Amino acid sequence: MSTAESSSQNELTRRGFVTNYPPYRYWRPEALQGVLEPRPLNIYVHTPYCVQRCAYCHYKTTTLGESRKSEIDAYVSALCREIELASKRFHLKERPATTVYFGGGTPTLLSKENLSRVMEALHEHLTLKEPEITVEGEPVTLIQAKADHLKTLGVNRISLGIQSFCDDIIQKTGRRDTEKHAFKAIELAKSTGAVVNVDLMSGLAGETEQTWAYTVERALAADVHAITVYKTEVYANTEYYSEMKKNALTLPTDDEEVKFTAYAMEQLDRHGYLPVNFFTFTKGGAFRQRHISTRWMGTDTYGFGVSAFGTVGNHALQNTSELSRYTQSLESGELPLARGYQLSARELMTREAVLGMKLVHLDLDGFQQRHGFDLAKLCAPVIEELTKNDLATVNGRTLSLTRRGILWGDYVGRRLAAHIEAMA
Ligand SMILES: C[S@@+](CC[C@H](N)C(=O)[O-])C[C@H]1O[C@@H](n2cnc3c(N)ncnc32)[C@H](O)[C@@H]1O
Ligand code: SF4
Repeated sequence: MSTAESSSQNELTRRGFVTNYPPYRYWRPEALQGVLEPRPLNIYVHTPYCVQRCAYCHYKTTTLGESRKSEIDAYVSALCREIELASKRFHLKERPATTVYFGGGTPTLLSKENLSRVMEALHEHLTLKEPEITVEGEPVTLIQAKADHLKTLGVNRISLGIQSFCDDIIQKTGRRDTEKHAFKAIELAKSTGAVVNVDLMSGLAGETEQTWAYTVERALAADVHAITVYKTEVYANTEYYSEMKKNALTLPTDDEEVKFTAYAMEQLDRHGYLPVNFFTFTKGGAFRQRHISTRWMGTDTYGFGVSAFGTVGNHALQNTSELSRYTQSLESGELPLARGYQLSARELMTREAVLGMKLVHLDLDGFQQRHGFDLAKLCAPVIEELTKNDLATVNGRTLSLTRRGILWGDYVGRRLAAHIEAMA
């Protein structure tokens, strides 16, 4: 496409007034498709409370003593107020909210009344449209009455943090769950009719080939819809980190952790669990979680709650991470936003390359339509190297992670992003 009407673009002339870009002759009626539809929206709701602070966990969470009930009630009031204020400020009600994700922390720790209050606020101030509603939970917190209540609220996905089915390994993390709790919670979650995911963590303290094989075997025996295998990351705000600094803790080595993940992938594959992203495997590749998949492909997500983050258009936004500031802001009618980032057109493209690769397959035509660049050409030398190293493969107009690429997680995405960023 060119703004020049003649081929002599470099000729010094006052002719050729530019009315618009791109020139009207490129405009088409079919390009109106979709633009009249309001853009969908994902909703994230953060619960910063947990039964305990697990030794490896880096999330913004807190445990509470006696004052738990009143503090949580106040937090939920603030949450409801934020939903109201943000909806007005960003015109969120005009957009269909197609996913709601209750993350944490431990949302299943909220009382039935508080869960209902949040859902009511979402219904009142947003336009929920056949939403996928996911709730994260820790097994000890999921009892029959809570499971029944989740069902009445329309929750259709439950993601349980299991981490390990070995009681010894779990005990070392400071969690109170046991294998028995885990299986009870899985059965309760399944009984609601929701899609059930279990999180496992490779690389926990004390893990051996035997304990890991047991955990994978029990996860398969649980016969859930989805199994997520997280690589244990050590962050500075964790007990793992401080213990390691004092030389009081040794975790499995990187090589051991990769072996654990490779073993899990092999077993999951043998039992018909296929990767829908590089760490979640679902029965037959079905039951893909819409919230995370669409977020990674660029759908806006509004994050409610302390430390919650999201994106609106080309802005990334994050709330304050201080609980008292969060509630105080909302009590005085202010949004608790603390920081943001305005993404350039190039960064929006880079974001889709790096986050899109998490979904294993990236549609090159769709990418080109959205960003104006052929990623295969733009990143040709990197893609050639990645394919040579059996990390990625190009099949027609799809760029995919190989099984080896899945094992190495974000490596392919990071390489693509670095290449795009390095271009002048
Ligand atoms: C926010 S938690 C929600 C689940 C619930 N709170 C629980 O722990 O049972 C989501 C998941 O993050 C994972 N996770 C937490 N800390 C992690 C870390 N340092 N590295 C990798 N995964 C981590 C765990 O698998 C956990 O189940
Ligand atoms: S892993 Fe779950 S229960 Fe443990 S501290 Fe993190 S969010 Fe809380």
